[in-house]
Amino acid sequence: MRIVFADLAPPKGGAYVVLFGEGGALSKPAEAVDKETDGALTRGIEALGLKGKAGDMLDLPTPKKLPYDRVIAVGLGDLTKLNARALQDLGGDLFKRLAGGDLKQASIACVAPKGAAVEEDKISAEVAYGMRLAAYRFGKFRTKGAAAKAPVFANARMLSGSAAAARRRYGALERISDGVYEARDLMEEPPNLLYPESFAKRCEALKELGVEVEVLDVKAMTKLGMGALLGVAQGSARPARMVIMRWQGRKGGGGPLALVGKGVTFDTGGISLKPAGGMEDMKYDMGGAAAVVGTMKAIAGRKAKANVVGIIGLVENMPSANAQRPGDVVTSMSGQTIEVINTDAEGRLVLCDALWHVQKEYKPSAVIDLATLTGAIIVSLGGVHAGMFANDDGLAADLAAAGEATGETLWRMPLADAYDKQLASNIADMKNVGGREAGSVTAAQFLKRFVVENTPWAHLDIAGVAWTTKPKPTTPKGGTGFGVRLLDRLIADKFEK
Ligand code: BES
Ligand code: MN
Ligand code: ZN
Repeated sequence: MRIVFADLAPPKGGAYVVLFGEGGALSKPAEAVDKETDGALTRGIEALGLKGKAGDMLDLPTPKKLPYDRVIAVGLGDLTKLNARALQDLGGDLFKRLAGGDLKQASIACVAPKGAAVEEDKISAEVAYGMRLAAYRFGKFRTKGAAAKAPVFANARMLSGSAAAARRRYGALERISDGVYEARDLMEEPPNLLYPESFAKRCEALKELGVEVEVLDVKAMTKLGMGALLGVAQGSARPARMVIMRWQGRKGGGGPLALVGKGVTFDTGGISLKPAGGMEDMKYDMGGAAAVVGTMKAIAGRKAKANVVGIIGLVENMPSANAQRPGDVVTSMSGQTIEVINTDAEGRLVLCDALWHVQKEYKPSAVIDLATLTGAIIVSLGGVHAGMFANDDGLAADLAAAGEATGETLWRMPLADAYDKQLASNIADMKNVGGREAGSVTAAQFLKRFVVENTPWAHLDIAGVAWTTKPKPTTPKGGTGFGVRLLDRLIADKFEK
């Protein structure tokens, strides 16, 4: 879909979208359309009993004498509460309406009725952003039927009295959606094609945006002593990789923000094999890594004035003659030993070495890890919030605020010594599982043992939100790219100032 920004004028052909507010207040362009259609708009709104609530839509064919084929009036809801999120959702819902038939183009008059809390350039840019986020599709394996063809709806014209300002504003948002697209593409890609080496190759493309990319192979990781990560990887025919991505957007400013991602390109469970039903979902067990890569793409794309290092541990968790066994003891890069009770609790084993390496090498000012870590967090929070565990109230508050602002919301979960005790092993420093109770918390406690003293750290368990079967206005079915919008916002608000 091509999105352009232009001055206000009724379009030639296609659909003309106009806005109205709660109580039925028409915007100027809506008023003009109402006049041109001899009051069809107001009569339609009344006949359908529309109150101008967010999501209200009136879709009318227009008389021949008018230059456009259809008019669509869209409700804005409470004008005093209009914000970026509401406008993005409006854009997403609108995209679905526009792309649902054989319409080729639409012009959207981004003008609200009097009394709206936002300017025209913001309406244009945020609605366009919502449309782009909704327009994502993963079509590369479709060879037949309509799904294989390029979408019919291909042109959106955002009309306003401040087209240049809107275009400028949309520039950064488009770069963020590029990051979301990247994360979704990685998550949708099937696991026979996306494995540690091919994943690492895709990260190298970030060099074009000025990101420094370093790839560690098995030899390098062996030398560094990453026994926990390598233990998970040893059952697979696909060799492990670790990718380190650095974006240096400012001079000084202390240690970088470190983003750490779980990149299990497929999780069979290993010797502690998962049941067959739904196992195909485990291709998205690299959703944390995808979020890190997508965020790096977003911030490099919009040239964020921040220093950020992204690190992802890439492995495939397979059962085989070489696979690690329940009962094995591995030595992590930190020197701490781990008794592997369950080979399906592999994410923490991958993350602990990535966490340790990034802290030793880069002395970050804060560390955030993202992982599809536990089924238990899905039981706790479903697909609504990601679970957040943090050792620092300030970082937790900043993350929660970025979540509210972007709609990628977080719910804080506890950490406590009492949970940590569940990890005690009879022969090693710790076990990799803490039993049935509080499974997401004990996973977080495990990670905490690899966080350097006094380093602000947050762990986001995204198992429930990384993939969705219930589409939202700006998040279609499938891989959500959860984390990109959230982290980009956190960086914009807290690490660029
Ligand atoms: N990748 C899974 C967690 C997961 C489950 C993510 C469902 C997305 C959807 C993780 O590696 C795992 O298998 N966790 C185990 C831990 C258990 C063995 C302690 C789990 O949650 O069952
Ligand atoms: Mn697992
Ligand atoms: Zn896993």
